[in-house]
Amino acid sequence: MSQRDGKEKDAMTDIAGIQTAIDRFMQSDTRGALLPLLHALQEEFGHVDPAAVPPIADALNLSRAEVHGVISFYHDFRTEAPARHVVKLCRAESCQSRGGAAIEAQLSHQLGVAMGHARKDGQVALEPVYCLGLCAIGPNALVDDRPVARIDSARVVAIASEVEA
Ligand code: FES
Repeated sequence: MSQRDGKEKDAMTDIAGIQTAIDRFMQSDTRGALLPLLHALQEEFGHVDPAAVPPIADALNLSRAEVHGVISFYHDFRTEAPARHVVKLCRAESCQSRGGAAIEAQLSHQLGVAMGHARKDGQVALEPVYCLGLCAIGPNALVDDRPVARIDSARVVAIASEVEA
């Protein structure tokens, strides 16, 4: 299932929509509002567009650097529109010791996208995740939130085929 169901927004920056969402949010309690506001924007638009930084900074009387710093610090915030499919590969120690680095290289090559990025056509993103609680059967990944264990070269090919469909 697509990650964008019900959330898909036009690929163009919706600056008016962003400002409306900020104004609506600011009508409630603004103390410690930055993180809740960022979550609200990501919930509404699927990501926190870089164009949202200046109006957020103005609304909360923060510098743009402060807002940008928080967005970049928390891995949960996306600054690009979400891809139709998301492959999250475990990069924690146990999966790494089971060949995770080689699997990452193969996945990146097969999917045509570097770790931590979405492909330009929006079809798939490759993201890191840190332990899925399946350490004994790694290397592991989530493909659109479905766990895939014991990933080897054949499973990499299967994952790549699945996300292209
Ligand atoms: S280290 Fe990968 S699932 Fe735990």
